[in-house]
Amino acid sequence: MSELSVKHLLGIKYITEDDIQLIFETADHFKEVISRPIKKVPSLRDITIANLFFENSTRTRLSFELAEKRLSADVINFSAASSSVKKGETLIDTVNNILSMKVDMVVMRHPNPGAGVFLSKHVDASIVNAGDGAHEHPTQALLDCYSIREKLGDVAGKKVVIVGDILHSRVALSNIFALQKLGAEVKVCGPKTLIPKYIESLSVTFEPNLKKALQWCDVANMLRVQNERMDISYFPTTREYTQQFGLNKAMLNSLDKEIVVMHPGPINRGVEITSDVADSKQAIILDQVQNGVAIRMAVLYLLASKIQHHED
Ligand code: CP
Repeated sequence: MSELSVKHLLGIKYITEDDIQLIFETADHFKEVISRPIKKVPSLRDITIANLFFENSTRTRLSFELAEKRLSADVINFSAASSSVKKGETLIDTVNNILSMKVDMVVMRHPNPGAGVFLSKHVDASIVNAGDGAHEHPTQALLDCYSIREKLGDVAGKKVVIVGDILHSRVALSNIFALQKLGAEVKVCGPKTLIPKYIESLSVTFEPNLKKALQWCDVANMLRVQNERMDISYFPTTREYTQQFGLNKAMLNSLDKEIVVMHPGPINRGVEITSDVADSKQAIILDQVQNGVAIRMAVLYLLASKIQHHED
């Protein structure tokens, strides 16, 4: 297989295992490219990409921008906070105005679930979802699975527990889809109030006890509690959350095996993970960030090659 089955990357739900494997093989190539003294290639010289961020981001925004620049694309950046969205402009009007400047691809983060899918039906550009509300964050899941593959040799057959605020997490949903497509087994762990009711319909089991979940897994992906998406209290206090679901060194050392620790960032140190765990050799958190650039280069390159083929 040499091309993706999709024109947009809207979610892991919409792509196949073959798509993911192609993205990984392409990322392997770009990972080697960006380790060279000259890290830039001319692959997207004729492509213009707009990064539209309607919600805060550090890692994803910078990683996409770096990936685009490494591929020699022309890049424009848009942040809702400093735009005419504040004057009441609609999403479609905003994007169509940007596209009239001859933009080929849009990378978009948006607080509303399904914003990328909606946009893909109304504008003539390739859309990459950089996180839409509590729905999906496909490039995060791709870089997470790629990092597991790099660390453990393969994703197939691995046991992964996702711990924390699953209810509000686009990272959890995209990871569940990606891990299962690649043949991993997934459990979730956290306060029952932060586990969505539909979780078992995704063939994911719920383990309420963190120690048991960690004893079972090869990889623990620790998630942040997304207070900004909560309008009610889901657990009594942060202190109690940390006591039951926070990962600390004593807990890690009490296991009878060594597990891999992941976190998508941003970390709330001392809440879902202690600093000594986040900074330990078992944590691959900065490897995840580093792999994000190669994964996003691969996604952009493969989607852009479909645009170019379409025009040929
Ligand atoms: N992991 C992640 O999406 O981080 P940002 O919100 O900083 O982009």
